[in-house]
Amino acid sequence: MFETLKKAPVDKIFALLGEYRADPRDDKLDLGIGVFKDPSGNTPVMSAVKKAEQRIFDAQTTKTYVGVSGNRGFCDAIVDLVFGKSIDLSRVASVQAPGGTGSLWVINQLLNRARPGAKVWMSDPSWPNHWPMMELAGLSPQTYPYFDSETRSVRFNDMMAVLERLGPDDIVLLHACCHNPTGANLTPEQWDKVAESLNRTGAFPFLDLAYLGFGDGLEKDAYGVRKIAQTCPEMMIGFSASKNFGLYRERAGVAIAVAAEKRAADIVFSQMANVIRASFSQSPDHGAEIVRTILADPELRQEWEDELKTMREQMLTSRTSLAASLRKLSNSDEFDFVAEHRGMFSLLGLSPQAVERLKVEKGIYLIDDSRVNIAGVPVDDTDALASAILEVLD
Ligand code: LMR
Repeated sequence: MFETLKKAPVDKIFALLGEYRADPRDDKLDLGIGVFKDPSGNTPVMSAVKKAEQRIFDAQTTKTYVGVSGNRGFCDAIVDLVFGKSIDLSRVASVQAPGGTGSLWVINQLLNRARPGAKVWMSDPSWPNHWPMMELAGLSPQTYPYFDSETRSVRFNDMMAVLERLGPDDIVLLHACCHNPTGANLTPEQWDKVAESLNRTGAFPFLDLAYLGFGDGLEKDAYGVRKIAQTCPEMMIGFSASKNFGLYRERAGVAIAVAAEKRAADIVFSQMANVIRASFSQSPDHGAEIVRTILADPELRQEWEDELKTMREQMLTSRTSLAASLRKLSNSDEFDFVAEHRGMFSLLGLSPQAVERLKVEKGIYLIDDSRVNIAGVPVDDTDALASAILEVLD
C-alpha cells in the first residue's frame, strides 16, 4: 500500500514554527506563525476565557454528545457578532466546525457538492493553506491580482478587471478583513464596488473571516461581510475564534451560509450537517462553549472586548513604532506602509535570502515571503528589529 505514496510537502508556517522551537538561542524571535504575543512575548489565555472556563468546569455535569451541527448558542452568538442587525437572519444557516480551517473545509465540501470542480478565485498572494485546501476538496483554485509589491497596496483595478469577467459558476474567495499575508485591505468604497460586481456577475462570494476585531475594531472589520450579505443573494463565510478569543488549539469555528431565503438556508444547513456527520461527526465543544459563555454574559463580554481592544492597540502601536524605527534608521520612507496596513501581518518585501539571513544570523523568524507577524514584534524595542532588518537588506 504505502509504496504508492511520495513524501508530502510540508506546510511552511508550521515547519518554521518547528525550526523556531528547536533553535536553542535565548534571544530568538518568532515573527512567523500568526499568534498574538503580549509585550513579554507570551501568548496568554485571555482573562475572559479563563473565567468562562472556570464557570464551565464548575457547571458542567455531562460530556454527552452535543449534536452534529455543534453548539447552537455558540453558532448563534457568532452569527449575531458578524451580522448585527444588518440582514434578516432567517436567511442564515450556521454549523460549528473545528477552527477556521475546519469551517473552510466544510464550506469547500458544500461548494463542491453544489458545483463540482468549480473554480475558486483567490487573491495573489493568499494564506498558503487556501490553495491546497481547495484542491483537496476537488475545487479548482485560481488567482486574481491583489497585491502591488511596489506600492505595497491593493491592485484594485486589476483585481476588478478579473472579477468582472466571472460568472455564476465561479467562486470568489475574499479575506473579510486583515488580509493574510499582505496586511493590505479593501476600503469600504472598494468593498461596495466588489459587492456590486459580484451581485451583477453572479459570481459566488466566499469570505474568510479569521481576524474579526484585529484590524479597526469589531464593527469596522465586519463592513465587507455585511455589505456583501446586504447586496448579494448568497454567500458563505468561514469564521475563526482562534485569534480574537486566543483559542488556537481549541479549534472553534463556524461555517456560515447566507441564502436568498429561509427555505434555501435550511437546505444548505442540512447539507453542511451531512458533510460533518460523514467526516468527523461533530466538532470539539470546549472552545465553542467558552465563546458562548463569554458572549452570553454582559460582564464577560465587556471584559473580552476590552482585552481584544488592548491586543489591537498593541498591534497598531507596533506598526507605528516599527515603521518609525525603520524610517529613522534607513533615512527613507520605504517601510512607511507597515503603519498603514492593518491586521496581524505585513509583507516586508525582503528577498528569501534576506529572510534566511535574519533567521540564521539573528534568530529572527519570518515566513519566506517576508511575512512578519506584527503581533510578535517587541513593541518596546522596535529599533533592534529595524536595525536587523536593514542589515540583511540586499
Ligand atoms: C497563520 O497564517 O500563521 C495562521 O493562520 C496560522 C495557520 O494556521 O496558518
